[in-house]
Amino acid sequence: MRTLAIAAVLIAVAVSTPARAETFPVIKNQTVLSECGDCHMAFPPQTLPKALWTKIMSNLSDHFGEDASIDPAIIPEILAYHVQNASDVSNVRAAVKWRSNAKFTRIIDAPRFKKKHKGCDVVWSHEKVKSPSNCLACHQTMDTTGSTKENMSFLPANLRRQCGD
Ligand code: HEC
Ligand code: HEC
Repeated sequence: MRTLAIAAVLIAVAVSTPARAETFPVIKNQTVLSECGDCHMAFPPQTLPKALWTKIMSNLSDHFGEDASIDPAIIPEILAYHVQNASDVSNVRAAVKWRSNAKFTRIIDAPRFKKKHKGCDVVWSHEKVKSPSNCLACHQTMDTTGSTKENMSFLPANLRRQCGD
């Protein structure tokens, strides 16, 4: 009886759960959070391949127009975290989705980013977004829950409608 009841609950949960939006594993590594979450949200490592993380971590003094240099002693820990969770290393669902053979150098140029943000060009420069890299403007809980659910109610309806696949 008990097993049946549990099975019934499991089936009910499976049926009522809507198509899963993509979710990134939440970053818990404190070094990564403090060193890479200062100027922007610490980006999910599943979005880039290990070669790009290695390149980014070896060139922090010339980092997307900023000097993001950090104590060299902590670079190996941060690099290891990103490599272990890279799109071509990790097998979590998000990493597999971001895996690609295309040539690109940053998240916002990755094929998956471009596919999911068609038409968003009209909002990147909006004063409440400022940059496509500002994931949290639209995905407000990406850093706390990993969810990519978006809420763009802060944008005028005509702009909002154009952004998204
Ligand atoms: C001193 C500030 C600063 C720090 C610290 C910093 N970054 Fe950045 N990062 C930036 C800026 C500025 C950009 C460009 C954002 C934009 O174009 O809107 C950027 C962009 C990025 C991008 C590209 C995202 C995209 O738009 O495709 C990645 C990846 C990245 N940072 C990773 C890291 C990692 C990993 C660390 C920790 C080692 C880190 N950052 C620390 C300032 C910083
Ligand atoms: C201007 C708002 C905005 C910004 C900024 C933004 N996104 Fe999005 N994102 C959206 C919208 C809208 C969708 C699409 C939804 C749809 O039509 O399914 C989306 C979809 C996604 C999806 C797909 C979710 C799914 O389950 O299909 C991922 C992953 C994603 N965004 C990641 C990011 C990342 C990473 C960043 C920052 C580097 C970012 N987004 C920046 C608005 C934004």
